[in-house]
Amino acid sequence: MRVLVTGGAGFIGANFVRRTVETRPDVDVVVLDALTYAGDERSLDPVRDDRLVGSADLVVHFAAESHNDNSLADPSPFVRTNVLGTFTLLEAVRRHDVRLHHVSTDEVYGDLALDDPGRFTESTPYDPSSPYSSTKASSDLLVRAWVRSFGVRATISNCSNNYGPYQHVEKFIPRQITNLLDGGRPKVYGAGQNVRDWIHVDDHNDAVWAIVERGAVGQTYLVGADGERSNLDVVGDLLEIFGRDRADYDLVADRAGHDLRYAIDATRLRTELGWAPRYTSFAEGIARTVDWYRDNEAWWRPAKARTEARYAAGGQ
Ligand code: TYD
Repeated sequence: MRVLVTGGAGFIGANFVRRTVETRPDVDVVVLDALTYAGDERSLDPVRDDRLVGSADLVVHFAAESHNDNSLADPSPFVRTNVLGTFTLLEAVRRHDVRLHHVSTDEVYGDLALDDPGRFTESTPYDPSSPYSSTKASSDLLVRAWVRSFGVRATISNCSNNYGPYQHVEKFIPRQITNLLDGGRPKVYGAGQNVRDWIHVDDHNDAVWAIVERGAVGQTYLVGADGERSNLDVVGDLLEIFGRDRADYDLVADRAGHDLRYAIDATRLRTELGWAPRYTSFAEGIARTVDWYRDNEAWWRPAKARTEARYAAGGQ
């Protein structure tokens, strides 16, 4: 099988490419990446020049502008990349009749109250809050329409928050890990009560393969690993790994429109496709992620100072 991966130099895409090349000798991979600030060719070094091909049997579409804070500062790249980019890709797979998997986010569903017993399912109505999540919601709707109107063979996944190696230092967990490696303090928005449903990036990418291989065309699958934790819990765990007091963090300016809680019910994925996460211990997954950032300073260091300068300018 020949797979074209858009956004293959980004965090989730690069992990998908590496894992695919390392574990699936029957799959050839080609990466299409705009190499913006968030894409890094070095993330693909271990598998570079490995079985590149020109045409595809399958497109896995990871390419997106994905950081909420950036979408608040300037929404325009989000509209161009997430909406127009997906439209462009849909027209291409329609023309060439290529199977598509579209990677999306649980943020299209808006947020939940902390005490809401419910979680997001495939039938939760779309209710995005931010320029980022509204452009991802738009891209999902385009995919659904191209399936119905033009018979495009596509599936969609909406995943919860990912963590793991090669994640940009602007994101919550890598930002705090690298602050701690520099001897600094974690920076927590608002009161730190917000809850995210964490999943290891390898578990997400295993789900993508399960959907590609066993999913029904036209179907949406929610991906999550029952990993709900408040931001203060995550920061406390990280501080403990570094031998610091769990309360040794700074509260900083909150994000505008900040979603309170995300939570995924992945029953369809588990029961219909037989997927299950391998990282069932957040403590273990996060400890391995800390080790990766400790061992790979050369990868993250170049982006650290300018990322922190941008946060400082916004009071965060
Ligand atoms: P983020 O990694 O931006 O992912 P998302 O907004 O898509 O969930 O942020 C995760 C959570 O962490 C979110 O509630 C915002 C919060 N956060 C902080 O408290 N401090 C930070 O420095 C950052 C980047 C995020």
